[in-house]
This record gives sequence, structure tokens and C-alpha cells, in this order.
Amino acid sequence: IKVKNAFFVKSASKMEETTPEGMSEVAFIGRSNVGKSSIINALTNKKGLAKSSSTPGKTRLINFFQIILDKDGESYHAQLVDLPGFGYAKVSHSLKAEWQKNLTDYIKKRVSIRVFVHLVDSRHPFLEIDQAVHTYLSEIVRPDQTILRIFTKLDKLKQSEISLIKKNYPDAILVSSSSKKGVDKALDAIFLTLFG
Ligand code: GTP
Ligand code: MG
Repeated sequence: IKVKNAFFVKSASKMEETTPEGMSEVAFIGRSNVGKSSIINALTNKKGLAKSSSTPGKTRLINFFQIILDKDGESYHAQLVDLPGFGYAKVSHSLKAEWQKNLTDYIKKRVSIRVFVHLVDSRHPFLEIDQAVHTYLSEIVRPDQTILRIFTKLDKLKQSEISLIKKNYPDAILVSSSSKKGVDKALDAIFLTLFG
């Protein structure tokens, strides 16, 4: 699978502002700062397509990107959706609650979502918030949807730590958006799930 093109489509603050249902969607989910925006840039090979930042809470809207892929000489289209992180945000409680509601609304009600990519930081794969997100997703996932877990920031790990994750999670997909290690495997995993 090769990426032919990718571009920004729209930002939405709530369900009513989202793009029309239809094109298959890959939703990137995880806690703030885990690397959701960065992996979209790595997968599409476009720096700055999704805005990333070392300050948690960077992505505040539901951002839609279109990706065009080539598989065996045929073109496939999908939407990649960059979402706000679960958990952290340096804003008032009421605003945070509103964002989280818009986020969970999208996750639960959006028909077009086919793949949930749950990103976890490979340095801290067992945080309570990740367990909570995992439990939440497994409760709301529909039969036509798949949850893929991807471990981010692989470049921060020692070889021994990589081995441990592979032992604990035999199917683990490990990615570094900075070094691009594992990005092609992640691309295949996501889009073979989507397009077979
Ligand atoms: P929010 O939008 O706040 O929810 O964060 P996010 O999940 O979109 O994270 P983002 O992609 O903005 O990345 C957060 C920070 O982690 C940035 O400083 C990135 O440069 C860094 N980062 C992301 N991926 C990697 C990676 O694979 N390796 C390393 N070393 N840093 C990474
Ligand atoms: Mg982000």
C-alpha cells in the first residue's frame, strides 16, 4: 500500500459540523500528547498536515483529512480523523467537559468510522487513562468496526524494552513518527483492515 496524496478537509467542533457520512474513516484516539497528530503526518508523509505540539492539549477540534492510497494499481480513498486527546487539557472544567462530550459523541455516533486506532505511549503502556480508553472503546465498538492498538514513540525505547512489549503484546504495532520506524507496517495494518 502506497500513499498517493493527503490533504486537510475540515475541522469540526461538534457532530453537526462534521463532513457528510460516507467515506470510510480511521479515527486516531488516545490521551493527550501520545502522538495522534504526529502519526497522521508520518503515515501521509506530510510534515505539518496535522498540527502537533510538545504541549498536551494541542488538538482541540475534530480534524478530517483525506488520504488517497494505491493498492495493486487501484485507488482507495479514506478519511483520517485527528481527535483531541482524552484526559489532559489546560482549560476550565466546563470547557473540558464540553470537548469530551463532543469527542465521545463523534466516537459513538459516527457511522463512517471503520477503524479505531488506539495509540498508547510505548514507554508507559499501562496508564489508567489508556485502560479506561480501551475499556470504553471495547464497550461501544460495532461489529463493522475494528480497534487497532499502536504503540508510539518507539525511538524512545531500549531494545530490551521493545522485546518486553513484543512479549506482552505479540501483535503489537510499534511506531516512531520521528524516525519513521514501523510506519509502513502501521499503514498496511490500518488499510488492509479497511480495504482487505
Ligand atoms: P494532543 O493533540 O494534545 O492530544 O496530542 P497528540 O496526541 O496529537 O500528540 P502530538 O502528535 O502533538 O505529539 C506530542 C509530542 O510528542 C510532540 O512534541 C511530538 O513531537 C512528540 N512525538 C510524537 N510522536 C513521536 C515519536 O514517535 N517519537 C518522539 N520522540 N516524539 C514524538
Ligand atoms: Mg493532536
